[in-house]
Amino acid sequence: MARVTTAVLKEKKQKGEKITMLTAYDYATAMLLEQAGIDVALVGDSVGNVVLGFENTLAVTMDDMVHHTKAVVRGVKNTMVVADMPFLSYHVSIPDSVRNAGRLIQEGGAQAVKLEGGQERVEVIKAILDAEIPVMGHIGLTPQSVHQFGGFKVQGRDLETAKRLIEDAKALERAGVFSIVLEGVPAALAKRITGEITVPTIGIGAGPDCDGQVLVINDMLGLTQGHVPKFVKKFANLHPQMLEAVKAYIDEVNAGTFPAEEHCYSINEEIIEKLY
Ligand code: KIV
Repeated sequence: MARVTTAVLKEKKQKGEKITMLTAYDYATAMLLEQAGIDVALVGDSVGNVVLGFENTLAVTMDDMVHHTKAVVRGVKNTMVVADMPFLSYHVSIPDSVRNAGRLIQEGGAQAVKLEGGQERVEVIKAILDAEIPVMGHIGLTPQSVHQFGGFKVQGRDLETAKRLIEDAKALERAGVFSIVLEGVPAALAKRITGEITVPTIGIGAGPDCDGQVLVINDMLGLTQGHVPKFVKKFANLHPQMLEAVKAYIDEVNAGTFPAEEHCYSINEEIIEKLY
């Protein structure tokens, strides 16, 4: 199998084949995704909530993203790696934005970057593309805008915001993005957007008619404790299993039943005797 590229994703849309994407933040998970045959590993800034324990993604830095991108890149061979540009890394100035995108490619080893926003991001996207860096767009419920939105709310539910999302998608397409994440958007609107643009859409909470789907890996494996959004399907329920395993370890260490003989290294008894 060859490396998944932006051309492969475009071809998938043309052929009506679905694109699969999951987040990954570390080497072990990246290897798992590669073995399973996923198309794209997204080093999401959701690393902030999922791995680093922040309330939202706003505290994630460029250094955090480079660190986790490097780990993911080491775990894959054919999977495409897309790295998120964190909050403020593409908002301050165009030269800074290009340099930051470049770090994710040059230091991190990703093949592309993702950034949030619609028409207001066209200029910065064009500058990053000018540096030969492929860009994935992200519109709808963009988590870096949580304070602007006043919470994590489905976007595009009234006529004005629905029209705006269609215009955003078209503006990103014209700017040259290779794909667009649609997050927290009504399914019928996501279908409409997907039908109106030639670049693939990848949905999360955006219904079945996007060209692909993405989920946060911890959510879909059942590792996330507490509330998960309505759009998450748990394809496994690993948290209770991991909890039981850790409890069993504690019990066995306390009881002295672990480690057992099969977990121990042997030495000639005479050597032990000569120690005294
Ligand atoms: O950071 C992330 O995990 C994302 C996905 C939710 C698309 O951007």
